[in-house]
Amino acid sequence: MLVDSFGRVATDLRVSLTDRCNLRCTYCMPPEGLDWLPKPDLLTAEEIIRLVRLGVERLGITEVRFTGGEPLLRRELPEIVAATAELRPRPQISLTTNGIGLARLAGVLAGAGLDRVNVSLDTLDREVFVRLAHRDRLQDVLAGLAAADEAGLTPVKVNAVLMRGINESEAVPLLRYCLDRGYELRFIEQMPLDAQHGWRRENMVTADEIIGLLKDSFDLTEDDPAARGSAPAELFLVDGGPARVGVIGSVTRPFCGTCDRVRLTADGQIRNCLFAREESDLRTAMRSGASDDDLAARWIAAVARKKAGHGIDDPGFLQPARPMSAIGG
Ligand code: GTP
Ligand code: 5AD
Ligand code: SF4
Repeated sequence: MLVDSFGRVATDLRVSLTDRCNLRCTYCMPPEGLDWLPKPDLLTAEEIIRLVRLGVERLGITEVRFTGGEPLLRRELPEIVAATAELRPRPQISLTTNGIGLARLAGVLAGAGLDRVNVSLDTLDREVFVRLAHRDRLQDVLAGLAAADEAGLTPVKVNAVLMRGINESEAVPLLRYCLDRGYELRFIEQMPLDAQHGWRRENMVTADEIIGLLKDSFDLTEDDPAARGSAPAELFLVDGGPARVGVIGSVTRPFCGTCDRVRLTADGQIRNCLFAREESDLRTAMRSGASDDDLAARWIAAVARKKAGHGIDDPGFLQPARPMSAIGG
């Protein structure tokens, strides 16, 4: 088991498959992109599968989520999903993606054993999309969402980060769009994880504000909090339900106390938290011939050192050295 000193147990493994992305969302990276990880530093598909197997078979991982950067850019994704689906006990397998390429891949991934997807969608307006993501790909994302639904990668969840003065006005249209199609929309507070270090608290649209915006147009009632478990989203029934909307208040309503996550970066580092200041290098250990016992021991030790919370409100808070695209969303 992966237990930390606060008694939290990590059962949810988030695996970043690449730090690259085909969008340039402003809350993540600059328009020119970043210095991508050098190819030899990336774990191979075999190395990823070895570590996922270790997590599931020996360390109590029950959910595996593939992220990026943009995980659909990793050509071996279907084979990695298929190998994960063969593990016993069979983990839940999910994907967090920007949706580009999903129109082509949803069926293949469902066939390989992928259970569900979360797709980022911050706007339904083509011009706003281009301003936000610096690429004209809104239609690809919408097509990807529809294909995921069609392929049974359900419940299809949609992630929207609201930014003051950019897309706040889209809260209601986005929710209507998702309600009409049976997608579960979650609004996310922007976190200080962008490569440009441009996050300002006053520009963050807070959970309270988001709920206020929605309440002008919808009747929201809190869903049973017991059903939330360790999930980051607080859920509300919309107009009496059964449709729901989520609010992920990572900053103003932190859920660190019930966190059950651990991350594996694309270059083979175990990170015990999005905001961790240290990583544990399994890649070098693995490439120097470490045994499964040795890797498991390093992983257990890395989780044991997990801090109580993200500390965004602490004086002297420092943003992680790596941006979200390199950590894994
Ligand atoms: P499910 O609810 O299981 O579908 O997944 P999820 O919401 O955890 O995953 P997703 O990748 O869609 O992440 C959605 C948002 O949750 C991210 O944008 C983050 O804002 C937030 N999030 C994910 N992981 C963490 C984490 O470890 N810490 C914090 N503070 N926020 C996280
Ligand atoms: N703050 C909050 N969410 C973010 N995401 C990316 N960067 C940030 C940030 N700085 C979201 C993406 C994606 C999810 C994995 O994380 O929109 O949906
Ligand atoms: Fe790409 Fe996701 Fe970052 Fe947007 S948030 S640039 S989709 S990695």
